[in-house]
Amino acid sequence: MTKKIIIANWKMHKDHTEAQEFLESIKFTQFGNEIVICPPFTLLGDMQNGENFSLGAQDCSSLSDDKGAFTGDISAKMLKLLNCKYVILGHSERRSFHKEDNLQINKKIINAINQDIIPILCVGESQDERANGNYLTFLENSIESTIPKEFDEDKFIIAYEPLWSIGSGKAATITQIEEVHNFLSKIIRTRFAKKVKIIYGGSVNLDNASDITKIDNVDGLLIGGASLNPETFRQIALTTER
Ligand code: PGA
Repeated sequence: MTKKIIIANWKMHKDHTEAQEFLESIKFTQFGNEIVICPPFTLLGDMQNGENFSLGAQDCSSLSDDKGAFTGDISAKMLKLLNCKYVILGHSERRSFHKEDNLQINKKIINAINQDIIPILCVGESQDERANGNYLTFLENSIESTIPKEFDEDKFIIAYEPLWSIGSGKAATITQIEEVHNFLSKIIRTRFAKKVKIIYGGSVNLDNASDITKIDNVDGLLIGGASLNPETFRQIALTTER
């Protein structure tokens, strides 16, 4: 069976002590799936030598993949030097609070790829788009305007994260996830002649994680709130193996 990918998105949570406590309370060798932790930038240095889990960042600069006069930005190369294997890009919180658009996200993806970091591209429709029935077209546009022409299918992940489900306690239903993942997989196959991993995010918890990971075309999970508590995260990761 191919390994699923279980990603913790810590967002703007945890200081050095809290991260240390989290890492000490989980034995990462117990997992059969790949575990990825995406802490805030400030913890990447502390966590760069962690064993049996992969490290991811939550963003990178669109302006250069290397260096430059870009106050506050962190380049993909800087992340690479800190052992980041992955970077989350285009998360809806970046799109809404930082006004990131598809063009910027496309540049970030290219910068990550240039540094051999695997982008985890987040796409998801709003409540309105779902209600008016335009969500599949919206998702197709999000994909087409952000994904570059050239990319390696083994080094690209799409995360379907409906905006209305993030942090709301209301995950998408099995039917909704199935429909969108099948659709996204078809788009990638037809437009790019490739097959990439497609993971689900949005109010994943211990009750729904196992059922969601069993759906066709669901290759893993992107977990926010429920990834902060080590025991909850451990149990979620284990339940995806059953
Ligand atoms: P949530 O967040 O699990 O807290 O809904 C998921 C995400 O934003 O990646």
